[in-house]
Order: sequence, then C-alpha cells, then structure tokens
Amino acid sequence: MVAFAVAWCLAMSVTVIVGAQWGDEGKGKIVDLMGQEVDIVARYQGGANAGHTIVIEGRQHVLHLIPSGIFTPGVRCVIGNGAVIDPAALMDEIRMLDDCGIETRGRLFVSHRAHLIMPYHKLLDKAYDEHRTGPAIGTTGRGIAPAYIDKSNRMGIRIVDLLDRSMLEQKLRANIDQHNAVLRKIYGVDSLNINEIIDQYLSFDHKIDPYITDTSALLIDAIADGKRVLAEGAQGALLDLDHGTYPFVTSSNPVSGGACTGLGIPPTTVDCVWGVVKAYNTRVGNGPFPTELHDEVSELLGREGAEFGTTTGRPRRCGWLDLWALRYSVRLNGISKIALTKLDVLNKLPELKVCVGYRYGGKDLKTFPAETSMLEAPELLYETMSGWNCSLDDVTSFAALPDAARAYIRRIEEFVGARIELVSLGPDRHRTVRVDA
Ligand code: GDP
Ligand code: IMO
Ligand code: MG
Repeated sequence: MVAFAVAWCLAMSVTVIVGAQWGDEGKGKIVDLMGQEVDIVARYQGGANAGHTIVIEGRQHVLHLIPSGIFTPGVRCVIGNGAVIDPAALMDEIRMLDDCGIETRGRLFVSHRAHLIMPYHKLLDKAYDEHRTGPAIGTTGRGIAPAYIDKSNRMGIRIVDLLDRSMLEQKLRANIDQHNAVLRKIYGVDSLNINEIIDQYLSFDHKIDPYITDTSALLIDAIADGKRVLAEGAQGALLDLDHGTYPFVTSSNPVSGGACTGLGIPPTTVDCVWGVVKAYNTRVGNGPFPTELHDEVSELLGREGAEFGTTTGRPRRCGWLDLWALRYSVRLNGISKIALTKLDVLNKLPELKVCVGYRYGGKDLKTFPAETSMLEAPELLYETMSGWNCSLDDVTSFAALPDAARAYIRRIEEFVGARIELVSLGPDRHRTVRVDA
C-alpha cells in the first residue's frame, strides 16, 4: 500500500475534475482520493447515468448521483442545479450509504434548482432511442435526455417544486397529460397512471426535504470563507453535448466550463482543472471511436480492465489510447494536471500504440473533427511504444515504474501539453503514485 498525501495537488478555491475521454476514466476513485483534502465535493451535471466506483480497503462502492467525497468523514457533498435527479435513485443511494454506516444528513445538499427525472422520462428515453431514424445512441435508459429536454422546454419539474404540494400536483398533471399523449399516440406505450405518480412524488418531499437547499449560495459562501471545493464531473468531455462526438453524446456539459453553470459559481473561483485519463480508450454505447479494436488486444483490455458499464453492465468497447482526441480534450477543458488511471491494465502487452493524428481524404486533420463521417473513418497515425511486460503490484513510487511505463507517461504529457501528476495502478484508493517533477 502506498502512503499517500494529496494536499500538494489542490489549490485553494475550486478545483474541477473532468473525465477527459468517453467516461469511466476512474473519476470516482480520483475524486475520492482528492476529496480527502477538501471541504466540499460538488457534482455539477448528469444524473444516474453515471456510475462512479470507489474501492476502499477491498470493498467496492458505486455511486450514481451522490459525489464521490461522501466516503470521507467531514466532507460536505453537493448535487448542483446542473444535475437531473431521479428521487428514487437518490433515496436508494442514501439507503445504501446508511447501510455502510455513512451519514448523509447534514452532509449532503441538493440544489433546489435541480430538475427531477420522472417515470415518463425513462419511458421516453427508451422510446426515443428505439425509434430514432439512424442508429440508436445506446443511452443508459435513465431518462437523462428527456429530463433535459423538459428543462430546455421550460416545462421541467424542479426539486423546489417538491416543497409546494399543490404546485407539484398541478405541474405533474400537466406534464403527465402531455407526455402520456406522446407515449400512447406516437410510441404505442401504455399510458402512465397519473395518480400513482403524484402519490409517489408527493411522498418524496418528506424524504428529500432535509437535503434541499440553495447550493449555489452555500458554495459561494464556503468559497468566500476559504473552503476548498472539488467540482466533480460525470461522463467525459467527448460525451459533452456541445463538444463531444455529437449526436452520440449525453445531454449535459461534462466539460470544465459546465462546473460554473452547473453549480452556480463564478468562473473566477476556478483555479485548477484536473483531467482523469484512462491509459487506453473505452466507450460504452454507440458512436464514433476511431482507435477501437476488435482483436486480442481489445479482449485483453476488456478482461484485465474489467470493462463493463458500471450503470448498465454493458461491455465497454476498448482500443488504443487516442492522444489526438485527448489533446483536444485537454485544450477544451483547460486541463493542466492529469490523473492517469489503469496503467496496470497494460501490463501484459508487449507493445503499445498511441494515436497521434487523424487523416481524412488524404489530408492531415488540424483539429478534432466535428463531422461524424470523419470521426467514423479517419486514417489513423500511430506511434508504437514498448510495453513493460511485468506486474506493477509492487510499485509504490513513480521512480519504481519500469522505464517503458515512464516513457509512455512522458510521451502522453509531451503530446497533450499537461502534466501527469498521479498514476493509478489499481482500483483501490491507495494504489496510486505521485509523479515527481
Ligand atoms: P468513473 O465513471 O470515471 O468513476 O469510472 P468507473 O467507476 O465507471 O470505471 C472505472 C473502473 O476502473 C472501476 O471499476 C474502478 O474501480 C476501476 N479502476 C480505477 N482505477 C483503476 C486502476 O488504476 N487500475 C485498475 N485495474 N482499475 C481501476
Ligand atoms: P460516468 O460518469 C460512460 C453514455 C451512454 C450513451 C451516451 C448517452 O460513469 O463516466 P445518456 O443515458 O447519458 O443519455 O447516454 O452516453 N454515457 C456514459 N458512458 N460513462 C458514463 O458516465 C456515461 N453516462 C452516459 O452509454 O452512449
Ligand atoms: Mg462510470
């Protein structure tokens, strides 16, 4: 086990941690680790589509909504206005934590401005994806896009509405009528029982009420008071609604810029952005993945990395590390520090490839393309590097890493222009080494 202190890695005010690829980079582990040095961990977007895994002394915990700081005593956790909340999923998670002896009352704060996910959002999610013209997105089915559609369409129901029973009932009736008509007439899905949903949601107010607050004000006050805040992104930059591989994206903004709108904090409070980067690439769901492999290497990555979706259990697609996409992500998010995860998964590969450029139509591309057609079939420029062919189980410092592993790390840094400051060598909190300058 590596004795590890991370105080050095967090600046004052707000540090944002983003997934720099297509999600599942190991954000849960890194946020849990860094959360030990802050006062507040705040989740700024997405919903229960996320699955963040934390392993503490061999015991695995998965969080979908509650920030990964909750396992550190004394740390306060915020779910910001940018998130979409399924109250049933939230209550399940609170119960799960309770069973582990983790107190959430007085430590968890949910924004009164966050939007609610309703049962009809989950039905619509499935119906939209199944009836799309063109390939399905392969969503997690958690109702994310329909909830954000209602938000943009100014008909969403917010957490604050749970506190006003007559208003909630009125809004629910209007929304259910409208969505039922769509589900029944367009998608042929059985309509929902309005009274059942109203009863269920009215009952949530008592349970969630103690957690609801103005989290933007809470964070701004805490920052003014000198408290350190870690903003935790879900998904990853390449799944960002604006900047990802659209339309194969999620419906929120996981990029670092999303932390300000999703938490209600000014951009001037953010002084550092960390990217969590997996040492190879994975993607779950459909959409372009230029470096994807369908051979013994992808099988090995899937097997050694246990690459199955944390939320849906679907096998994750695997491929070589795409440095071209990563450089785009680093620039877009303003990432200056990287936590590189799952380096140990590469242990058995005799050689490694990294993608350092895309060509299309005989021309080198200058940037990461927006066109799906280019992303689907670029010609890839690869560099080949030596593998290290040994276990990293006994490695407890950067210096003790094999030369080939250090060369891999240095090449990533050099290409993307950000420092790798942490290297994760296993799922457990303590299987992490700091990279010395
Ligand atoms: P997140 O969504 O970014 O929090 O990532 P997930 O939890 O969905 O997926 C990451 C998976 O990799 C989890 O099962 C983690 O326990 C595991 N993991 C994290 N870091 C490492 C590492 O350095 N090595 C290995 N082998 N597994 C890791
Ligand atoms: P974490 O936080 C990986 C993917 C889905 C699908 C697309 C849209 O654990 O990294 P959605 O349900 O959001 O409308 O699905 O986004 N996706 C994720 N992939 N990790 C995640 O979260 C994801 N959340 C959504 O597979 O392709
Ligand atoms: Mg995940």
